[in-house]
Amino acid sequence: MSQPQSGAINPSDLAGGSAGSWAKEQGLISSRRNPLVVLFRELQRAEGRREQGLLLLEGTHLLEEAIGLGLRPAQVLATSGWLERHGGRRAWPELQLVSEPVLAAIATTSHPDGVVLSLPWPDPAPPEGSDFVLALDHLQDPGNLGTLMRTALAAGVEALWLAGGADPWQPKVLRASSGAALALPILRLESLAPRLEQARLAGNQVVATVVPHGEAGSAAPPQPYWQLDWTRPTVLLLGNEAAGLAPDLLACCSHRVTIPHSSAVESLNVAVAAAPLLLERWRQQQERMPGIPSSAPP
Ligand SMILES: C[S@@+](CC[C@H](N)C(=O)[O-])C[C@H]1O[C@@H](n2cnc3c(N)ncnc32)[C@H](O)[C@@H]1O
Repeated sequence: MSQPQSGAINPSDLAGGSAGSWAKEQGLISSRRNPLVVLFRELQRAEGRREQGLLLLEGTHLLEEAIGLGLRPAQVLATSGWLERHGGRRAWPELQLVSEPVLAAIATTSHPDGVVLSLPWPDPAPPEGSDFVLALDHLQDPGNLGTLMRTALAAGVEALWLAGGADPWQPKVLRASSGAALALPILRLESLAPRLEQARLAGNQVVATVVPHGEAGSAAPPQPYWQLDWTRPTVLLLGNEAAGLAPDLLACCSHRVTIPHSSAVESLNVAVAAAPLLLERWRQQQERMPGIPSSAPP
């Protein structure tokens, strides 16, 4: 997701951090009752994360992503096996060693790869007047939310508005987002309606996504998504896995689009539907400005 200059972990990014924020070398922690382990385990819960202002990241990939984004872990815990595979004590002088059972007790996956870290909440404020916003109403499934975040970042989304649903800082979402949750400016809201209304009045197109066969008798059927001009300032709105979009949210939208498909199914999985919708803006921009290399931001 992010692009660390070297393409690999640069342990000096950690070792160069403020000494006070790092545990001193204390040998191996092998007790689950060790205070540091207790603190880490509290990060599995939303309340613990809020109280400590920290997130729990698991695995080498998320460690690389955090460092690639210039984020500095508060603490890194690893097993001796992981340390041997990743440069040894000389490369990671400030890392705290823990036993395999202790690491397994902290991690939320059944096969942790030997490293976990705590990270201060990244809190990038959504930029004022974002040209491309993704708004999600009560997305419940952490896998869907993380997958959507990853695609949103790939598509050039500048801000994510979230109403209710899965906690974006839980380990499952962080993993499914492949680190994109750390990079996207996220605004959590009680309700999306006031924001959508405001965005529409400010001249953005606010685009509702609806299933293709759901509105028999409706006066104006939804447009196939490719007919929309996605290069205009846009807020794209996706609905809950079971209920879709509530009428009060639909009423805030200026456009309704659909991904046409066979009536053999009622709808697509929300994260699957998001991919063509989000990437259509990118495609249209590429078509209009073919000189721009595909790796450049829009
Ligand atoms: C599983 S669907 C919800 C199905 C729900 N029964 C309904 O009537 O909307 C979850 C969300 O995925 C998006 N979605 C799913 N299939 C879609 C399609 N074919 N076209 C556009 N959006 C779709 C919409 O945002 C929808 O609110």
